[in-house]
Amino acid sequence: MSNSITIQDKALNPLMATYNRFPITIVKGEGSYVWDDQGEKYLDFTSGIATCNLGHVPQFVKDQIVEQMDALWHCSNLYHIPSQEKLASLLVEQSCGDKVFFCNSGAEANEAAIKLARRYAQEVMKTEDYEVVTFRESFHGRTLATLTATGQEKIQKGFSPLIKGFRYLPYNDMDALDDLAGDKTCAVLLELVQGEGGVIPAQKEWIEKLSAICKERGLLLMVDEIQTGVGRTGSLFAYQQYGIEPDVVTLAKGLGSGFPIGAVLAKENVAKAFVPGSHGTTFGGNPLSTTAGVATLSYIKENNIVEKAAVLGEYLHEQLIKLLEKYPIINEVRGKGLLTGLVIPNAIEVVHAARNKNLLVLIAGPNVLRILPPLTTTKQEIDDCISILGSVLNECHI
Ligand SMILES: Cc1ncc(COP(=O)(O)O)c(C=O)c1O
Repeated sequence: MSNSITIQDKALNPLMATYNRFPITIVKGEGSYVWDDQGEKYLDFTSGIATCNLGHVPQFVKDQIVEQMDALWHCSNLYHIPSQEKLASLLVEQSCGDKVFFCNSGAEANEAAIKLARRYAQEVMKTEDYEVVTFRESFHGRTLATLTATGQEKIQKGFSPLIKGFRYLPYNDMDALDDLAGDKTCAVLLELVQGEGGVIPAQKEWIEKLSAICKERGLLLMVDEIQTGVGRTGSLFAYQQYGIEPDVVTLAKGLGSGFPIGAVLAKENVAKAFVPGSHGTTFGGNPLSTTAGVATLSYIKENNIVEKAAVLGEYLHEQLIKLLEKYPIINEVRGKGLLTGLVIPNAIEVVHAARNKNLLVLIAGPNVLRILPPLTTTKQEIDDCISILGSVLNECHI
C-alpha cells in the first residue's frame, strides 16, 4: 500500500510528530543545568517549560519521592491518601481556595474547572448557564474543551466541531469588559500573565474591573495559574499581586517539581457542585505525585524561595533592560518575576544560536523569547545567560 511505512521507518521514528524537537537529547539534570547524551552541559533557562521550578532533580523532593516509592505507588481514590490530604491542606492554607481536586496535568485541571463552573451554575445556582468567557491569545490546554477555551485558531485548527459555550474577548481591553456577562455566561477563565501567548501580563486596573463585574453579575472568576503559579511570578500565586480573590485557581507544572500533577482549588460554595460521581480520575492525587507536591511546597516555604525568586526576577529584568538599551533589535522586555519575555523578531533564531552556546531558552510566539530560569537560580547564572544572549545578539543578523 502506498501509505504504509517500512519497518525501518517505524524503528527510526516511532513517535507521532506532535513536537518539532531541538536536535539534542537530554539525559541528565542537576540544579539549573542539563547534560546531553554527548556530555555537553547547558544552562537550562526553560525549566522544562516553567515546571522544574526548584531546578532539576531537587534532592529534598527526590528523597521524599524515593521514600514514598518504597511504601506505596498507587491505591486509587477509593481510599484516603495521606500525602493527598496533606498537599490539599498546604494549598488551602496558602491560597484563597477552600477545597482541592487533584489530577495529572494542566489541561485536566482546566477541564475540571470548566466542568465545575457548569455544574455550579446548573446544580447549585439552578440556572441554565454554561458559557465560559476566555481571552484571545490565551492558552489553556489540548483536550477538546481546553483547546476550545484557548483563544488561538492555530491550536483549534482541524478539531471542529469545537465544544459549545465559549466566547473570546480581547485581553487587557477595558471596553471589551462591557461584554463580559452574556445571557448564558457562568464563568470567566484567564491567565494573569499570558504565557504561551507571548508573556503578556494582565494590567491591574483591567483585572480589578473584570473581578468587580464578575462579583456584580455572579460570574465565577477562574484563574489559570498553571504557568504563573508556585512562585513563578514573584508571589506563590500571581493573583496575590492583583488584590483579587478568584473563585477557582488551576495549577500544574511547578507543583510537583517535574513530577506530573494538576490541581483545582475552589471556594467552598463552588466546590460543593462536585459530589461523589460527578468528576474523577484514576491517577490524580496518587501517593507519588502528591508526595512530590508536599515536598515542593514545604521546601519553597522553609527556604523562602518565593521571596528570593522575586528578587532574582527583578535582577533578571534589570539585566534584560540593559540588553534592550544596547541592542535596538529588542523591542520590549516584559513579564513578571521569573516569567520573562524579550520581544524580538525571529526569536527562534536566538533560541538556536543560544543553544549552540550552551544556553536553553524558549519562544512564546514568533517574536517573543521566553526566559524561564528555575526559582533557585543565582545572580551568577543570570549573568551567564545575559552574557550568552549578548554574544548571540552581536553575531546574529536577525
Ligand atoms: C497557562 C497554561 N494552561 C494550561 C496549560 C496546559 O498544561 P498541560 O500541558 O500540563 O496540559 C499550559 C501549558 O503550557 C499553560 O501554560
